[in-house]
Amino acid sequence: MKILVCDQISQDGIDLLRSSKAEFEYVPEISHDELAVKISDFEAIIVRSRTRVTKDVLLRANRLRIVARAGVGVDNIDVEFAKERGIEVVNTPDALTNAVAEFTIGLMIDLSRSITNAATTLRNMEWKKAQFVGSELQGKVYGAIGVGRIGRRVIELAHAFGMKIIAHDIVEIPKEFTSSYEVEMTNQDEVFRRADFLDLHVPLTNETRHLVNREKIEMMKQSAFLVNTSRGQVIDEQAVLVALEKERIAGAALDVFETEPPTRESLLQNKRVIPTPHIAGQTLEAQSKAAISAVRQVLDFLSIKT
Ligand SMILES: NC(=O)c1ccc[n+]([C@@H]2O[C@H](COP(=O)([O-])OP(=O)(O)OC[C@H]3O[C@@H](n4cnc5c(N)ncnc54)[C@H](O)[C@@H]3O)[C@@H](O)[C@H]2O)c1
Repeated sequence: MKILVCDQISQDGIDLLRSSKAEFEYVPEISHDELAVKISDFEAIIVRSRTRVTKDVLLRANRLRIVARAGVGVDNIDVEFAKERGIEVVNTPDALTNAVAEFTIGLMIDLSRSITNAATTLRNMEWKKAQFVGSELQGKVYGAIGVGRIGRRVIELAHAFGMKIIAHDIVEIPKEFTSSYEVEMTNQDEVFRRADFLDLHVPLTNETRHLVNREKIEMMKQSAFLVNTSRGQVIDEQAVLVALEKERIAGAALDVFETEPPTRESLLQNKRVIPTPHIAGQTLEAQSKAAISAVRQVLDFLSIKT
């Protein structure tokens, strides 16, 4: 059984492959054309986001049985065509959960304590101590839209900070969870109205595209902060920018953008915005978990012992 690893994955995944009886090739820089030629020799490929597993590649994949993505989502894989050809497609949805959740808490603290802005002034040799009076998370209303893997982990952490938690999801959330973390499940508008921190952990769907728009922002408290680490298109960036400029909301922390890299300079330059380049899930631990999980799924699928 031959496995092709097409993108750079954590050494922990490579070590697991080495310790197995699998024959594998590690070609993290392989080009699309080279892959289309090479693919016919392999039963499995492991990718991250660089490699595109498109129809033209899959058409030549005569022996391929499984494509594994060491990451969340399968946007770079033609899943439908793979299915037509009987090829399994898997990813590692849990691997990034804790990384994104901790980053979200970091953004909430930065928004309310102005850590980034304070550091910037001092880097410019300005001592503006009096200007940076923050507020605390304890006692504030944490409002989550989306109570899946990441939403739940953020709720656990927000609960530990002593926040009051309200949330909305389209599926029923287990009672054990909501009672353990004192979560009040409510409708979407109510979360917008009451949240001090409005935090999004939904996938991008027809229903969630521009879920945060002018109308919803109008419902928010003027002192509220918006946090988005989900997908850029879940918010209407222009509407958020206008709201920030009019001081309609207090601030926004954005890790994801409608187009990436983002081009709306006035949004990135706005002092009420903390912009980060889609790094919420990027930790050594998450990369290790993703690589191990992807390799493990391939080995199990091909019944290769470790
Ligand atoms: N910034 C990053 O680096 C990064 C990393 C990993 C994941 N993500 C993104 O985070 C998001 C959440 O990931 P997850 O692992 O928690 O996903 P998940 O599938 O476990 O949870 C998503 C939740 O959203 C709910 N939902 C769907 N549509 C909804 C709607 N219209 N209103 C309310 N709730 C709705 C679902 O029922 C589900 O409970 C995804 O968009 C993912 O792409 C970002």
